[in-house]
Amino acid sequence: MARRVDKHLQQHLWYLVSVILVFVPIMLSQTGCAQRENTIKIGGVGPLTGGAATYGASTRNACQMAIEEINQQGGLDVSGKKYKLELIFEDDEGRPESAANAYRKLIDQDRVCAIIGTVMSKCSLAGAPIAQEAHVPMISNASTNPQVTLIGDYIFRACFIDPFQGRIMANFAFSSLEKRKAAVLFDNGNDYNKGLAEFFKARFEELGGQIVAYEAFTDEDKTQDFSAQLTKIKAAGPDILFLPNYYSSVAMIAKQARAMGLDIPLIGGDGWDSPDLVTLGKEAVEGCFFSTHFSKDDPSPRVQKFVSAYTEKYKQPPDALAALAYDACLILFQGLRTAKSLKGEDLRDALKNIRDLEAVSGQITFDDQRNPVKGAVIVKIENGRQVFYQRINP
Ligand code: PHE
Repeated sequence: MARRVDKHLQQHLWYLVSVILVFVPIMLSQTGCAQRENTIKIGGVGPLTGGAATYGASTRNACQMAIEEINQQGGLDVSGKKYKLELIFEDDEGRPESAANAYRKLIDQDRVCAIIGTVMSKCSLAGAPIAQEAHVPMISNASTNPQVTLIGDYIFRACFIDPFQGRIMANFAFSSLEKRKAAVLFDNGNDYNKGLAEFFKARFEELGGQIVAYEAFTDEDKTQDFSAQLTKIKAAGPDILFLPNYYSSVAMIAKQARAMGLDIPLIGGDGWDSPDLVTLGKEAVEGCFFSTHFSKDDPSPRVQKFVSAYTEKYKQPPDALAALAYDACLILFQGLRTAKSLKGEDLRDALKNIRDLEAVSGQITFDDQRNPVKGAVIVKIENGRQVFYQRINP
């Protein structure tokens, strides 16, 4: 009797073991994208706290809006099946370590199909290797450092890159403002700032201009006092100062420069693009110029439609970050619509093949490094407002 029970137990045990042996590997091999009740999960990452918090807020708002629009239309068709979309958004605090954690959480725990973001290049450089390894396509809305998409073939972006941006601002300083002696002050602990400083310098010198001071500081989040660098810069006698930094430190530098009587024009890149630039910088940034991706004053119907929908929903006009995040979503939706399946590699292939997609910040076709080839906008700060000044084509 006891023997028969044992045998029974043994049979049951074997059954259990074989079930485990067969199904666990199958379950484990299904990494990446999870769909629940016909819903596709999309990850989002951006800085919602810290010195660049407006970037994350704009990014999240625009993603939310783009996704709601799709859901209101009944969802998105992917290889013959309709899906609703769900956004899971994480704060990277503007810090690479937090960005890496956010990417891991979205990929391992939430099992998102793709990631929109992140914003700051140094954070995208920390997240991209994780997305690449997991074969989860990532579309950074705003990281302009060229290295970001070079991490691998799953990494895309919705913005132009810094060699272009540095070049157009050097051209602008030299040809439009007719300046010949430029100074540069930048954060050398950040890939974006450092890269943009170098690209500006190279082009300005190529044009025949002189870089009379090239000064750096470390960590925008911690540096508050720029007087040592500004004293050197003033002594070198520049006629223009290029600040390839984010808006919080630009505002601080501008105020300190004015306080020591450095009254030359200040110019910069897309990191200036925040409603807080003027709130923090006040008169110190008046009359200054920066390059960015989009202007809400652009009369084109596509831009105006986006501006009015966003303004109505969020009670404030969209900035470049919002436009780019919306565009990153349009890119992703187009990829999903044309992908053979929801698998990472199929989505990647569909994204690569996008041609002439009409987005808010321009038309999207990727080059072979997954960068869209797009134009830029130069904005002037006039009477405390960001005013459209000029459009530059690629
Ligand atoms: N281009 C910046 C970076 O790569 C991020 C940024 C884009 C900030 C657009 C503001 C507006 O770090």
